[in-house]
Order: sequence, then structure tokens, then C-alpha cells
Amino acid sequence: MIKTKYRKIHTDIPSESTELFLRKLSETEARSMRGQLPVLWDCAKGFQVFDDQGNQWIDFTSTIFVANAGHAHPHIVEALHKQLDKKLLHSYTFINRSRVEFLKKLVSIKPDYLQKAFLLSAGTEATECALKLMRMRGISINKEKLAIISFFGSMHGRTMGAEMLSGDSKKSEWIGYKDPNIYHLPFPYPWLAKGDNYNWKDHFYRDIDRLKKQGLDFNNIAGFMIESYQGWGAVFYPKEYIQELVKFAGEYKAIVTFDEIQSGFGRTGKFFAYEHYEVIPDLVCIGKGASSSLPLSAVLGKADLLDLPETGSMSSTHSGNPLCCAAALANLEVIESENLVYESERKGKLLHQCLNQIAVKYPHRISHVLGKGMVAAILMADAGKPDVVFATKVVEKAMRKGLLVVYTARESIKLGPPLTIADDALLEGLDVLEESIAEADQGI
Ligand SMILES: Cc1ncc(COP(=O)(O)O)c(C=O)c1O
Repeated sequence: MIKTKYRKIHTDIPSESTELFLRKLSETEARSMRGQLPVLWDCAKGFQVFDDQGNQWIDFTSTIFVANAGHAHPHIVEALHKQLDKKLLHSYTFINRSRVEFLKKLVSIKPDYLQKAFLLSAGTEATECALKLMRMRGISINKEKLAIISFFGSMHGRTMGAEMLSGDSKKSEWIGYKDPNIYHLPFPYPWLAKGDNYNWKDHFYRDIDRLKKQGLDFNNIAGFMIESYQGWGAVFYPKEYIQELVKFAGEYKAIVTFDEIQSGFGRTGKFFAYEHYEVIPDLVCIGKGASSSLPLSAVLGKADLLDLPETGSMSSTHSGNPLCCAAALANLEVIESENLVYESERKGKLLHQCLNQIAVKYPHRISHVLGKGMVAAILMADAGKPDVVFATKVVEKAMRKGLLVVYTARESIKLGPPLTIADDALLEGLDVLEESIAEADQGI
């Protein structure tokens, strides 16, 4: 039984009612939907989650990187009420005011090379759309310029094109064939560096040259799809590697797309995570944190790229939905007025400092602390080998103590609190995490 300023646990976890709902769901819903912790979310406010039994958690998940502006932010809720009161629930086919206002705000706060947006509903639609735009540009230059290069182990969504981009042969086995024009580079994990002054530029050229041996003609590269950090472990690329990749792409007139669906909207201490690499992309995919949970995603880029498809040949019924746009506009207003990008950088320093201190205490358990700003992953290891069992134990313990973290089903424990979290709640959550590691370490 736990009662602190921010946490309250006074039933078994999972509670009886959560178990009942999980049983009901398992009868009616595909099992793939239930990969996270068994907690029934009855209400979520700011950085806290409440179940129907009065238990209360500190949230380090942001409902998987959606609630950057905090759960049910009053300004966003008010905007939704206002939009509902207008009695307008329609589709993209006719324009509406909230879509005009959101897009105006979105392109105004971003750099001038992101001039237009195409709105969609799911992240996976946005990455597929970027794939289409990259290829449309490619074939406008040369009919065979269709090759897309992405990274093994990346996550771009669960539809066919997106899974082909991810390069996970097991997960995309169902597709039945490999697109001969999609190539994958190995991810440049930091632990591959040999020595402190490791040359990541050469590393990039060694890897890309291997694709040549697989038959790739560099002149036929339409574009690169880059997840700004690799999701499961918040793994960033070495900066020089991405800088060289973007230079190379420019030489071959290839489009560079950053998938910012998880990493955008202040999550990493910059508005977009690609800013850490100090490069200029051609296309940017957004989703998740763009609207504080309403289904909205988009592709942003230069007007000449976004306007490649003819009228009607790039569309999606629910895109530009007025309710989603109202939420997205209010979300941007909160990010701006509460200085959340700066807050993410500031609190991120605190988060990473504490995690690194924990790692020093448990060197036999924690091999890496990764991430930037308000996204972090601690990688659990046993004798140098990834330790999924230990990571799972820690995640479960934290849940029972009133802290929700992201379960990855891997050796990583991922942390992504709402950017609005109070400093003392962040620290309280980190204490719980440390306590959970300590107990799991002692076999309690
Ligand atoms: C980097 C990235 N791209 C794409 C997606 C797919 O987004 P959605 O689930 O909205 O289709 C995700 C979702 O986790 C993601 O993290």
C-alpha cells in the first residue's frame, strides 16, 4: 500500500477490475493490442494516471509519446469542447476553419523549408505517404529512381510499406515478397565505435558501398527514411554519420525524410529531434505528440514536393478532421505558451543525470543510458548480454509501486514523461525506478 504526494496504490495490481476488463477484451479484441502494462486508465491528468479503483500513478509513458503537453490539458480540452459545440463533425472533403488555423500555425512555427503539410490520421499513413512522395520525385528525374533506403530495426508503422521500410524480415514475412527497391543500412549503434575518435563518416560510406554490391545504383536512390532515433532504445545516430548521409543524399538528388512521429513536438529537448544533427530535411513525418491523442498525423515539406500528387490522388477521408485539428492547434499553443521545448531540455538534463547516477550504482545490471531530453532508455544487461527478464521485472515492480514506464518487451526500459511533469514528481518517479531496480537486483 502506497500513499505519497503523487502516487496511491491501495489494491492488488493488476486490480480485480483491470483483470476483468482484460479478460473481456481478450474475448473481443485482437491480442496484438495489449502489449503494455495491465492498468485500466480511467482518467489521466497532467502527469498522473488514475484507475477506477482510486489507484494513482506517476506517468513516464505519455501514453506512449502522445501526451507531450500533459494528459487532458485544460486548454486542449476547452478547444475540443468549443469545436464540439459548433456541431461540425465532418471529413476532409470540404474545408473547415480549424484545419486552416492549425495548418497556418504549424507551418508558421517551423523553419521556412517546411512550407506545406498533408494531413492524415495515423503515423503509418504519414510514412507511407512520404515513401510515395520520395518516389514520385525520383521518377520525375529518372524513371528508375525508385530506391528507398532505411535502417534495419527501425519502426515506421504497421502497414505494408511501413513494415517493408522497417527491415524486420520476421515481422514483414506476411508480405510475401521483398520490394527490390527498398534497401536497408545497419543501424550505427554507438557501441559499434572502435575508440573515441571513431570515424562515422567512413562507417557510413562502408555501409552504403555494401548496398552497391547488392545492385544499388546510387543515381537511382529516391530517398532515405530515417527514424530520428531508434525507438526501442531511444538510440540516436552519431551526428557525423547523419551529416554525411544528408550530404551524400544531396549529391545524388535523393530526398531525406525524418520520421518524427515519436520524437517530435519537443520530446528530445528540441522541437524536432533531427535538429540535434544540424541538418535540413526535405520531408518530416509527424504524429503521436502532434495532437495530444486525437488521431492526427502529417507529412511536412517544401511546397514543390507536397504538391507533386494531382488533386484527389493523395487523400484520406478522416484527415483534417475539425476535432483533431482543434486539438492539434491547442496543443501547439500549449507547447509555445508553456515553453515546453525548453522545459524538455531542462528536465531532460535532470532525468539523464539521475539515470546516469543509477547506472553507476548498478553497473552489473545497466549497460547503457540512452536518449536526449525527455526520452530515455536504460538497457539492462547480464554479463554483457541483453537481459529482457530483468527489465520486465523492474517494469512490473515500478507499476506496483505507482510508476508507469514503457514496456518494450526487450532489454530496454523506456521513459517518456509528459513534458509538463513537475520536477519533484520526476524525481519521485526516478526514486521509484531505482527502488525497483534495487529490489529486482536483490531478487525480492
Ligand atoms: C517512429 C514511428 N513511426 C511510425 C509509427 C507508427 O505510428 P502509428 O501507430 O500512429 O501508425 C510509430 C508508432 O509507434 C513510431 O514510433
